Amino acid sequence: VLCWFYIFPVYRVPSDKEIVEEVLRQRGVWHKNQTGIELYRKLLTDCCNPRRMFAVTKENSPLGKVLWYDGEFYYSHTVNNETYPLFVQGNPLKFPLKKCAVVGNSGILRRSKCGRHIDQADFIMRCNLPPLSKDYVADVGNRTHLVTANPSIIEKRFQNLLWSRKAFVDSMKVYGPSYIYMPAFSMKPCTDLSLRAHYALADSASNLTMLFANPEFLSSVSKFWKAHSVHARRLSTGLYLISLALGLCEEVTAYGFWPFSVGLDEQPVSHHYYDNILPYKWFHAMPEEFVQLWQLHKSGTLRMRVGQCP
Ligand code: CTP
Repeated sequence: VLCWFYIFPVYRVPSDKEIVEEVLRQRGVWHKNQTGIELYRKLLTDCCNPRRMFAVTKENSPLGKVLWYDGEFYYSHTVNNETYPLFVQGNPLKFPLKKCAVVGNSGILRRSKCGRHIDQADFIMRCNLPPLSKDYVADVGNRTHLVTANPSIIEKRFQNLLWSRKAFVDSMKVYGPSYIYMPAFSMKPCTDLSLRAHYALADSASNLTMLFANPEFLSSVSKFWKAHSVHARRLSTGLYLISLALGLCEEVTAYGFWPFSVGLDEQPVSHHYYDNILPYKWFHAMPEEFVQLWQLHKSGTLRMRVGQCP
């Protein structure tokens, strides 16, 4: 039977109940594995070169360079006199990044009391302009160094920035002087929205720095995870950030990654810590992503915090 398994491995995502049981078995026990961390950093460096490639910079994308969109077939942008001046010179992050926290948006963060833990990290990454109001601080913290912004949020929450520029700039103040990371060259509609977000921040002398995600980096990270059994139309933002952190940081802890509807106490868990709006069904493969991340947790390469922080 074992031989058959090796010849024809049938891949099945475990049920929510099996995942809960597995996580309960392993919870609390975590041993950092320095060799595993270094090995994974090397794997990610070899495939995706995050230090040089994670953002579009003047160094990796000079005038005339063709940026192929990672979320669209055969669509590209040629760096021109309008876009080139908007790029940062080179990778702006100060290395080494020691302890990094990557914060997903799962409802598992509610009543987790992880805010203090998260805020103690040296570099904190968050997804999709999440709310950090005082109701949530105890669970999610309030420091941020890098936050992603999906252009769809700019479209829905800020009406394409046609007349809500001030509301947008004001709402960004909660992230302090951090980097805002936008996939400007992933899909066609992203470009205009990302450029508009850049202009809105620049015109208001905001202390946030816009970084455009490099589509070459995003597509190499996708290929990496495809080879690790994550088959989705697109990786989730959280997995891109964890991959970035594993490639750049000395130690990574992930919070708020739990794409399941029940928690460890078998009580219902909302999809987000701030609402229960579910994602489009076939777009991401978050349970498959979780299974891979949990393997890294078990091997001591990445620490996943699920449930309450001590
Ligand atoms: N996440 C998770 N479990 C949840 C909700 C979110 O693991 N129940 C993680 C995912 O990695 C996700 C990230 O937290 O990418 C941010 O959540 P969210 O803002 O909901 O992401 P999406 O809206 O699905 O958008 P995206 O396409 O940007 O991933």
